Amino acid sequence: MASNYPVDMSVKPDVKAFFDPATWTISYVVKDPASDACAVVDSVMDIDYAAGRITYESADEIIKYIKEEGLKLEWLIETHVHADHLSAAPYIQDKLGGKIGIGEHIVTVQETFGKVFNEGTEFQRDGSQFDRLFKDGDTYTVGGMTCFAMHTPGHTPACMVHTMGDATFTGDTLFMPDGGSARADFPGGDAGILYDSIQKVLALPDEMRLFMCHDYGPNGRDIEWETTVGAEKENNIHVGGGKSKDDFVKFRTERDAQLAMPRLIIPSLQVNMRAGELPPPDQDGKTFLKVPVNGL
Ligand SMILES: [Fe+2]
Repeated sequence: MASNYPVDMSVKPDVKAFFDPATWTISYVVKDPASDACAVVDSVMDIDYAAGRITYESADEIIKYIKEEGLKLEWLIETHVHADHLSAAPYIQDKLGGKIGIGEHIVTVQETFGKVFNEGTEFQRDGSQFDRLFKDGDTYTVGGMTCFAMHTPGHTPACMVHTMGDATFTGDTLFMPDGGSARADFPGGDAGILYDSIQKVLALPDEMRLFMCHDYGPNGRDIEWETTVGAEKENNIHVGGGKSKDDFVKFRTERDAQLAMPRLIIPSLQVNMRAGELPPPDQDGKTFLKVPVNGL
């Protein structure tokens, strides 16, 4: 029930979106209406994977915007360990401060992918790379605005949806009504659990603004990232109109079996499970990412 969470629809933050066409990701700067405090949700590091080259144009755009608007960055929120883009949270934190937060079940993700990438004991699997590990229902503040995190596993075990006033950031728990939902077949994913998590989001007030982490412009429409709980409940092609859990699980499982791995999953996981840091350099000061052969 939504009533278990401290919803306050009277607080209406300004939400500025940044779309990254390379990964179809939308990052957000969310400003407290009563102060200059802000949060960044799901930033993106640029990577030319074929060349092994990392740059920060997308993050620099966010940094420029925050500076120009005279905002004070308090939080860098990661809705989950993304498999399709690399986080730039530490890069932005280095320039602007703020705390990096993710769901407490990151430890499960670190355990799983620590094994996949054969990381040594120096890779801590306790979430200590992050400044804050959120539990379901945990609150935090951005200026005078009280925000909360909902645990929404299914796409990954550590997924969280964040609500700041009348704005909710869905991560990959939901897509736009005509986009449906995210896959649930990564290690630790589960279609039935995803359905239950989506119901938690849909229990928020109908007028709640929802902001997506991704949009792929289905059927040739322009990229969109904002909708409402009411619109999702009515029209979401995977869960709207009261679709049953059984139907959702059957559809999701069949669809997922046909999906290829995301292009950037291998670098993304290695970086994002470290809160956006690259793996430590070798004794010559060179940094490498691994490719586990037949390991995923
Ligand atoms: Fe994701």
